Amino acid sequence: MSGRHPRTFFKPLVVGAPRPFTDETRPRNVERMIHFVGFHDPKMAAKGEEMLRAGSVDVMLGNFEDAVPVDQKPAARGAFVKMLRSLGTGDKKAGLWIRTNQLGSTDFMDDMEVVKASSGAIDVVMIPKVECSADIIRVDWLLAQIEAAAGFEKPIMLHAILETAEGVERILDIACSSPRLHGMSLGPADLAADRGMKTTRVGGPHPDYGTFADAEVPGMPRAFHQGELWHYTMGRLVDACKTAGIKPFYGPFGDFKDLVGCEAQFRNAAIMGCDGAWTLHPTQVEIARRVFSPDPKDLLTARRIVAAMPDGNGAVMIDGKMQDDATWKQAMIFLVQAEQIVGKEGETARTRYFGPALPPNDPRIIPRTFEGRSALALASTGNSRQMA
Ligand code: GLV
Ligand code: MG
Repeated sequence: MSGRHPRTFFKPLVVGAPRPFTDETRPRNVERMIHFVGFHDPKMAAKGEEMLRAGSVDVMLGNFEDAVPVDQKPAARGAFVKMLRSLGTGDKKAGLWIRTNQLGSTDFMDDMEVVKASSGAIDVVMIPKVECSADIIRVDWLLAQIEAAAGFEKPIMLHAILETAEGVERILDIACSSPRLHGMSLGPADLAADRGMKTTRVGGPHPDYGTFADAEVPGMPRAFHQGELWHYTMGRLVDACKTAGIKPFYGPFGDFKDLVGCEAQFRNAAIMGCDGAWTLHPTQVEIARRVFSPDPKDLLTARRIVAAMPDGNGAVMIDGKMQDDATWKQAMIFLVQAEQIVGKEGETARTRYFGPALPPNDPRIIPRTFEGRSALALASTGNSRQMA
């Protein structure tokens, strides 16, 4: 047996530390974008604080690792702690995360001082270059010590970046290592370097990675189809995270001018099952908000499926297409996601997702999902044979 026994898996590691979250208690926050802010730059720090107070991003992350010059890391930590001290109750309108330096650097312990000074306001600590479950377990103990000593009420969660070949090979062990794990992100820049990939980009496709179509007419040019460089890794990431019940995320897209390319990468990740992506530039925030929110067209289809088979049993035809227990579960993904966004954004989102009436012959499903039981409750109790 590797790892902790199921009996002790959810016990606090240190006497007096808060109990780790379980599937039932873990926060269900909307996290479409993790917005990176370099607190070493006073202008960026002020903007980050403004975003946190206004809730204009889902998550604001104070970055202490790569992209922060080594000699400015102390200033970044200092500015972040100053912001923490200025926050009053209720001022924080977005998730508050930090990215530490890697475990093998002395900077890491300096980053932990920020956690100590946070009075429990930091929701998630992102750890770079995680390679095995022992990396997570080490930080797990350290956080439990800090939480117990400082009397934090809720556990701080951990988020791992997948950015080494070894990390990819051990991904399932990492994902299942601790109940403290929130999710994982792809780190395509470091991963490319570690793998010896031939690219100088931060995420995104490569123009020379692809295949030629068969020659149709001898002598005529053959069409070139660019391939998706990250598909294999994203598949591993999504499957490991879903196995462990944690959240998968796309990472950074470094070409800030290429909004179309950024949208395509984020959309692929969303379709494959990711909850969000990193945003490094303000123009990427709206892309992530749009792409990781359900499309109202999909919502309408989802509502029609659930309306036609409320308990998710059997099979029906809608517009000539078969729907059954499995597509009911697919529909619930959209409904639960929309319900969470309505919870965060209120009436405008409710109108966008549940305003348009279903076609005349469809029964209305809104009373079933939103005026009685929530979509989330329906997803976990309706057809529980299969959702369990
Ligand atoms: C992110 O940290 C990356 O290396 O892509
Ligand atoms: Mg990196």
